[in-house]
Amino acid sequence: MTRFDTKLAHLGRASADDVRTVNPPVTRASTILFDSLEHLRQARNEVPFETPRYGIYGTSTTFELQTAMAELCATESCIATASGLAAIAATLSAHAHPDARILIQGDIYEPARIFAEQELRERCEVVFFETAEELAALVDDHTSLVFIEVPTSLTMRLIDVRAVADIAARHAVPVACDSTWGTPRYFDAHALGIDISIHAATKYIGGHSDLMLGLTTGTYDALASTREWCVRYGSTAAPDVCWLGLRGLRTLSVRLERHGESALQVATWLEQQPAVERVLYPALPSDPDHELWRNQFSGAPGLLTIELRRCDEAAYARFVESLSLFGLGASWGGFESLVLPAVPHVRRGLDPQPDDGRLVRLHIGLEDPDDLMADLAGALEQL
Ligand SMILES: Cc1ncc(COP(=O)(O)O)c(C=O)c1O
Repeated sequence: MTRFDTKLAHLGRASADDVRTVNPPVTRASTILFDSLEHLRQARNEVPFETPRYGIYGTSTTFELQTAMAELCATESCIATASGLAAIAATLSAHAHPDARILIQGDIYEPARIFAEQELRERCEVVFFETAEELAALVDDHTSLVFIEVPTSLTMRLIDVRAVADIAARHAVPVACDSTWGTPRYFDAHALGIDISIHAATKYIGGHSDLMLGLTTGTYDALASTREWCVRYGSTAAPDVCWLGLRGLRTLSVRLERHGESALQVATWLEQQPAVERVLYPALPSDPDHELWRNQFSGAPGLLTIELRRCDEAAYARFVESLSLFGLGASWGGFESLVLPAVPHVRRGLDPQPDDGRLVRLHIGLEDPDDLMADLAGALEQL
């Protein structure tokens, strides 16, 4: 069983054999019972989040998802947490100590940046960087972690992941990456040199806008401090959510393929619309990071940002609110299309903007792309 799509269908089902169902049962638990004192003591010495011990470390359902995800990411281990943000916070916190410097890409997912600015800074030095060249000048022997996101939230820029990994490796610094956009299907993080790969499984892995889940993958060594932090803070994902995550995995590839095809079609069409200044989507040949995308990804999902021509707030509101197939709300990666005003923290690669009403994030869902373009065409007329 070597190919990714076959793995998606078959991994994480071992515990179903006992009950003769296709899917593993949801095992809910706080208490785990042991046959003997020896077994109880043994369990305490086993790897937390991989062996039954106490509900907070997971049950068979959690372990099914974690082992499946680790194998999909071609690595040893995975930790399931309550959300993608919880996974990011755990990874950053686990590498913070008074002598440490953590280097973070500036235009990451905004709540992660806020966590770094307002919480992490209390515990270590935090420095933001924009490019691999800047990173090279900042990384030193006190650096405990480099954190990147590909592509960056809202600005959709790609950093050269191999270059980042090489720079960090020269100082034996681990690199963590928010790999949510690419998913393990399109972004082989560990093969590119990432030590700790973080997925907000809330998005494409869940795929139905009905769960919150974070999955962090890496070798046992790379995840050791994050695992310890999660144990100490009781950071965990509920078995019911892990079960939904497993169910989402089964259809990940087919959904992504459709999201990507439709997004490219809509993005190409949007580029030709007079009211659209530009479309930020690395799969577009016109994108400044298209070559990096081709080298680092094997596909693209449905999330993109558009920059509208200059317009006033009222016209911007009319555009957003007149869309009928795009729900107005946060998140992405579900089956449905979404629209959200985008106000990036750092405007890397974007001209200074006179107002906030010009950038819009679109999630292209599984609807018929012709219907989505018709909806967008009507909304663009409002401008
Ligand atoms: C790129 C990225 N990373 C992480 C997260 C956080 O995931 P969650 O919503 O599961 O906390 C998000 C959420 O929007 C995101 O867009």
